[in-house]
Amino acid sequence: MKIIHTVGARPNFMKAAPVWSAINKITDFSQILVHTGQHYDRLMSDIFFKELRMPVPDYNLNIGSNSHARQTAAIMIKFEELVNELKPDLVLVYGDVNSTVAAAMVCSKLSISIAHVEAGLRSFDRKMPEEINRLITDQLADLLFTPSKDGDDNLIKEGIPKSKIHFVGNVMIDTLVRLLPKAAKPNNFQDLQQYILVTLHRPSNVDDPKSLRSIIKKLQDVSKSIPVIFPVHPRTKKMIAENELNIQNNVNFHLIEPLGYLDFLGLMKDATAVITDSGGIQEETTYLNIPCITVRENTERPITVSLGTNHLIGKDHYKIKNLVNNAVDRKKRSNTIPPLWDGKASERIAETLVVYCKNL
Ligand code: UD1
Repeated sequence: MKIIHTVGARPNFMKAAPVWSAINKITDFSQILVHTGQHYDRLMSDIFFKELRMPVPDYNLNIGSNSHARQTAAIMIKFEELVNELKPDLVLVYGDVNSTVAAAMVCSKLSISIAHVEAGLRSFDRKMPEEINRLITDQLADLLFTPSKDGDDNLIKEGIPKSKIHFVGNVMIDTLVRLLPKAAKPNNFQDLQQYILVTLHRPSNVDDPKSLRSIIKKLQDVSKSIPVIFPVHPRTKKMIAENELNIQNNVNFHLIEPLGYLDFLGLMKDATAVITDSGGIQEETTYLNIPCITVRENTERPITVSLGTNHLIGKDHYKIKNLVNNAVDRKKRSNTIPPLWDGKASERIAETLVVYCKNL
């Protein structure tokens, strides 16, 4: 059996790593790793392969950045050539980025089995490019691995047969559980006891200058009482420069380069609170019991709000200050870790794949 793992952007890497190693342990499948090159900077890509102990990709399609249509189409053209040459039995795709949907569309038309890891998540907001990618990928996939039961419910409502859906838990948490003991704050932040960690990159926040300006202003206000550490995504960096926001770092406000997995996790696990618009970080903070302030109107991960530590604030940026104050004052808060976020999701995926592939 020949399996291709397709990855392209930063959030894919920590999902693929544990699945790769689980398959490696229990089967003699031949595994091929294809990187589309959607993310290409060292700090957005290479560092993760090293830290996650992923093999160097067998193929890199070197697609790079472009408009959605051009990027997705370019991946499809090169990926089609590659799968025609390699003839895999099954292709694994991860999450909801353009690389995910591009690979799924290619395989679907070539009648190659598709397994989608992190299936069924829905924000019900079709203005998000990721929501379109999720909807299409799930319609095309033959095996749908869900991280939470709400994913199963969404898929069933969309007419996906139950037999294709496998509730396995959260592979991102597999990586977190494995690497938590190795995670440590970067040296220059070792002495900070309390601080707020920030990540922002969603077009709805950073591509709109008014919104970006307003959020940065609130973060600067927060930094008057507690240090703020903000590793800046390339999209956000570009928008800060284009809008001439001229942000000055000071002893309490740290705009820094994107961090690797271990540095970021090291900061996240001890943060007073995290402010983000990422999907995965909503899950990681829930697992770590760290308050998470999500600057989005909706989430495709509602379990992080119902069971976890997540607060959605939408465009009400003024809420940041109060929520940060609550986090600073908080006594121990007991969260609940969602079912099957136990570090073993990838093992369940590997076992399911063995059974599925026997019947191919
Ligand atoms: C992509 C995903 C998003 C995910 C995010 C994580 C889609 C539709 N979006 O968004 O779901 O949460 O990755 O980071 O797939 N750039 C660089 N270096 C890089 C990569 C990007 O400088 O290595 C810059 C380019 O200017 C590019 C911009 O960032 O135009 C955006 O990159 P892109 O991959 O298009 O989308 P992301 O915003 O990173």
